[in-house]
Amino acid sequence: MLISVINGPNLNMLGEREPQVYGSETLDDLNSALGRAARDRGVDVEFFQSNSEGSLIDRLHECSRRSDGVILNAGAYTHYSIAIRDAIAAIRPPVVEVHLSNVHAREEFRRVSVIAPACVGQISGFGSTSYLLALEALVRIYEERS
Ligand code: DQA
Repeated sequence: MLISVINGPNLNMLGEREPQVYGSETLDDLNSALGRAARDRGVDVEFFQSNSEGSLIDRLHECSRRSDGVILNAGAYTHYSIAIRDAIAAIRPPVVEVHLSNVHAREEFRRVSVIAPACVGQISGFGSTSYLLALEALVRIYEERS
């Protein structure tokens, strides 16, 4: 089983970026913890981050051929990118939408997710644990389907 972890704009700035909202862990810290959890479950994992919408869409398309599940934090694109929503709908593997912060407890514009209807589910508000919960959900979906 291969899980692809895709992080969108500004998530490369974790650790420095608004630590009161997003915590002090860097993206490398987060990816290392997720890599360890995946290994414990016997799952392969790959990581990708981009600040550009087109690169995120290209990566989602690539995942269609090789991944069994996608963990996606689309950052601010979550709230307005119909193109990313369409890419999620176009691909084969299930996609879990994740957020570090609780987007429903923040500004009004963050309560809208245009990608949510194309995703298998949404996990928001648990910091880096959101990604671990998404991994668990995708492993269960995979086991149920195979
Ligand atoms: C975020 C929430 C988004 O609203 C924001 O634009 C981000 C990060 C989160 O992980 O909490 O960049 O996706």
